[in-house]
Amino acid sequence: MKVILLGPPGAGKGTIAKALMQLDGSVQISTGDILRAAIAEGSDLGKQVEAAMAAGNLVTDQLIMDIMEQRLQQEDCQQGYLLDGFPRTIPQAEALKALLARLGEKLDCALELDIPREVIIDRLTTRRTCTNCGEIYNVKSKPPKVDGICDVCGNVIVQRADETEEAIENRLQVYNDQTAPLVDFYRDEGLLVSVQTSDLEPVVAAIRERLQG
Ligand code: AP5
Repeated sequence: MKVILLGPPGAGKGTIAKALMQLDGSVQISTGDILRAAIAEGSDLGKQVEAAMAAGNLVTDQLIMDIMEQRLQQEDCQQGYLLDGFPRTIPQAEALKALLARLGEKLDCALELDIPREVIIDRLTTRRTCTNCGEIYNVKSKPPKVDGICDVCGNVIVQRADETEEAIENRLQVYNDQTAPLVDFYRDEGLLVSVQTSDLEPVVAAIRERLQG
């Protein structure tokens, strides 16, 4: 499947993408994970984006499009992809549309996870992420078997740098200002599927209905 995951920070995009990947071999492409890996490596890209990310601001459209233009043409995308955190602005959505037209590809849908603000804040303050493999945990809904240690790879799990109260507030504001308009964009494109949950079963049912329809 070729699906965009839309939704505010903490809506469950990464969690759902990892679960959907298991269904048909589609690959998760998280621009946030790509940028965090660059920061961890200390690469030029990482140095360029570190401050903006820690504050909860977006990095530039040009930088993201340079990354995604290459990433979407890699071999593993043939099977399908789950775009997690991309596009995030109208210019990115327009550029993606042009890129897919050039590649002769079509999206199946843009899946909006429409989750209330109070749930989101609770989830973000209780989320933990593996520093090595990126597995996502939650101290309330999905704790690791051993406190502070990843079940999958045994590395340390931590809170992300953009999970301070101030950065979370800013990320929600940035979402409302710059990313929420994509819901109307994809509704106009006839691609929007909206669900008010990030539980796997109803999400899969909504996608299946869309793919069959
Ligand atoms: P990014 O990494 O994309 O962060 P985000 O969009 O803010 O999303 P999150 O990863 O915080 O949340 P999520 O929706 O994936 O939720 P999760 O599954 O973890 O981006 C980070 C930064 O990178 C941006 O701020 C920006 O600076 C930069 N960036 C990235 N892409 C960019 C772009 N395209 N353009 C410009 N800049 C870009 O779930 C959250 C928690 O809830 C977890 O603990 C999980 O276990 C729990 N949970 C999930 N589902 C459920 C459920 N159903 N029930 C109970 N708990 C649940």
